[in-house]
Amino acid sequence: MNVLITGATSGIGEALALKYATDAHVFACGRSQDKLDELAQHDNITAVRFDITDLADIKQQVESLPEFDIVVLNAGSCEYINDAKHFDSALFERVIKVNLISLGYCLEAMLPKIKSGGQLAIVSSSVTYLPLTRSEAYGASKAGATYLAKCLEIDLPDIDVSVVHPGFVKTPLTDKNDFPMPMAITAEQAAQYMYKGLKKRHKEIHFPKRFTLFLKLLRALPWFIWSKLAKGMVR
Ligand SMILES: NC(=O)c1ccc[n+]([C@@H]2O[C@H](COP(=O)([O-])OP(=O)(O)OC[C@H]3O[C@@H](n4cnc5c(N)ncnc54)[C@H](OP(=O)(O)O)[C@@H]3O)[C@@H](O)[C@H]2O)c1
Repeated sequence: MNVLITGATSGIGEALALKYATDAHVFACGRSQDKLDELAQHDNITAVRFDITDLADIKQQVESLPEFDIVVLNAGSCEYINDAKHFDSALFERVIKVNLISLGYCLEAMLPKIKSGGQLAIVSSSVTYLPLTRSEAYGASKAGATYLAKCLEIDLPDIDVSVVHPGFVKTPLTDKNDFPMPMAITAEQAAQYMYKGLKKRHKEIHFPKRFTLFLKLLRALPWFIWSKLAKGMVR
């Protein structure tokens, strides 16, 4: 089985690559050469270097690879809008480009290489359940990613499409967070949830359930209740 994972040089993607490498061949993608060299030491891992914001680079690197059983589009970044009144459009563009536009580039290059009956997973975020303070850029990019995945589920009849909604996971991406991360789990735990969910071909993979189900419950409340709670989180 061939599994391609973007963002495999760190955090959730790295843990997932190592998990899959126990029983599949993994194409581990990223930009950090040191990390790619380290991953390539593994018998079942081929390191693939490209920038997900560069369509030509992705196409060139993916062209020579074999067909995939599973593609996991996991690479992403997070930056917060700290002062909404003085909106940072450059930050907004950066985040939308890495988390959303790049998905279009990866899909153009990789969808023709997914076997019929294969799987595609898009890693979004549980931030999409509810608008949160400072999340204008990250939340919008991930809401777009979730919508994209759901449309692809409709339009790709021969591929199973899953969208992944993690809660807080301790990784280099969240290490810089300066706020408490309730019910945070490790990257290895996140990888285990994703591995199991993809094996069962679940359409939505969300974890840890105690956190994501609580957010889903809050989402069901009238908007004025959530907006009041969310405004209470503004610093
Ligand atoms: N951690 C959480 O709590 C959490 C929660 C919900 C959703 N997520 C989502 O889960 C995914 C993985 O997050 P993580 O926490 O594991 O983050 P991470 O440890 O920071 O890893 C991010 C990965 O994305 C790759 N990447 C970033 N920009 C890239 C680019 N331009 N081209 C190629 N690769 C690029 C990085 O590779 P290089 O540095 O080698 O380029 C790295 O492998 C992200 O989509 C994130 O939004 C995370």
